[in-house]
Amino acid sequence: MPRQVHRGSILHFPHTTSDPASHYQYFNDGVLVTENGRVTHLGEASDFFRLPANQQLLNYGGVELHKGLLIPGLIDSHVHFPQVEMIASYGKQLLDWLNEYTFPTEKQFANEEYANAQAEFFLSQLIAHGTTTASVFATVHPQSVNAFFNAAESIQARMICGKVMMDRFCPDDLQDTPEQGYRDSKALLERWHKNGRALYAITPRFAPTSSPEQLAKAGQLANEHPDAFIQTHLSENLGEIEWIKELYPQHPDYLGVYEAYDLVRDRALFGHAVHLQPREYQGLKTSGASVSFCPSSNLFLGSGLFNYDKAKADGIKIAMASDVGAGTSLSLFANQADAYKICQLQNSSLNPFESLYLCTQGAASAMDIDHLVGNLNPGSEADFVELDFMATPMLQQRLLRCKTLSEQLFAIITLSDERIIERTYVCGNLVYKKGSKVCGLNSTSGLRYLSNGSM
Ligand code: GUN
Ligand code: ZN
Repeated sequence: MPRQVHRGSILHFPHTTSDPASHYQYFNDGVLVTENGRVTHLGEASDFFRLPANQQLLNYGGVELHKGLLIPGLIDSHVHFPQVEMIASYGKQLLDWLNEYTFPTEKQFANEEYANAQAEFFLSQLIAHGTTTASVFATVHPQSVNAFFNAAESIQARMICGKVMMDRFCPDDLQDTPEQGYRDSKALLERWHKNGRALYAITPRFAPTSSPEQLAKAGQLANEHPDAFIQTHLSENLGEIEWIKELYPQHPDYLGVYEAYDLVRDRALFGHAVHLQPREYQGLKTSGASVSFCPSSNLFLGSGLFNYDKAKADGIKIAMASDVGAGTSLSLFANQADAYKICQLQNSSLNPFESLYLCTQGAASAMDIDHLVGNLNPGSEADFVELDFMATPMLQQRLLRCKTLSEQLFAIITLSDERIIERTYVCGNLVYKKGSKVCGLNSTSGLRYLSNGSM
């Protein structure tokens, strides 16, 4: 990809920090240069051009001018691609929701053609919502992982994905076995991990649907591949936690189950962590594992209120996540708005810079990929989005009345959905512009397939 010069206002967090409100970098009139898929320069426009303002553009023919705000591509640390079609399923909490809606939906992904179509649909939606990196659960079927990585490869997106491992307490045709789950996962890992921008996550769904034998095999695979990711669920729902006590009575708590099978370490990503015991907070901190704050999901399933302040004070790595289809939006802005309300219910106000940090540099740092994505530092991969300040009349009017960047950011977070995304760039390439399809993907294929009635 040839050199491209982008000029506009730019906001990012250049390094890992516990105080993002003091450590952001903002250019009111900035320049971002990309070349061969990476950022090569970030700075003030006046420094870059070193010419009076009105001559600058004449001398730099290829400058892309942006009216909106450029920020790093958003990172969704926990999302289920097969569940995008069952988002907004009514009336259940976690365990009933899984049985009633999730498992029947995931069965369809045995069909490779169906998996391919839905992978493309999901990815096109992710990009249209400004998310350029995600840690993605596929289904138990290996072909669902291939479907997702093939789609991601077609636009060169930096994605983490894994085959769900589950060998009990779900429909027979969704079960693998400890040995088969291990072999399939290992083959997928060897095919995809670090292949282009793909990264593999060993993915036992959660401790209830894996036998001790299966968790042991997942841990074995993790030990064989120390730089692979691990993703699963932890302490989301009170009924789930009671069930863990019955199934795994010998362990001190929910995290203790995963610890016993070597599944708690750097690059292990635990979704939810809503109802943790003090020992579990300590275990997460000392292991280097991270937790995904899934605000809209936790509200939608009535799971509980994630204690952000406690997790942060205990030094746990935290990243934001949509957890679609339990989450109600792929928009990490909509999820940030829910995160704010969850904190408010616990007498705390989540700072807007901190909130955005949890979807960019903070997420990348928690997931150990901040040397690749999450910021716009020279050398980082050139994934970024342009936000449209005029996305809606309400937003436009509110922003006109804001006096500070912090106020603007908070209004954007509170009032936004996917309409805020004007453009999405992956590896320096424009892959989405509002109102058009995602380049390289047949973004309506999932819908077309369904309306054919061929399933
Ligand atoms: N726990 C186990 N599986 C799931 C899932 O698919 N979604 C959510 N929210 N929690 C889970
Ligand atoms: Zn989940």
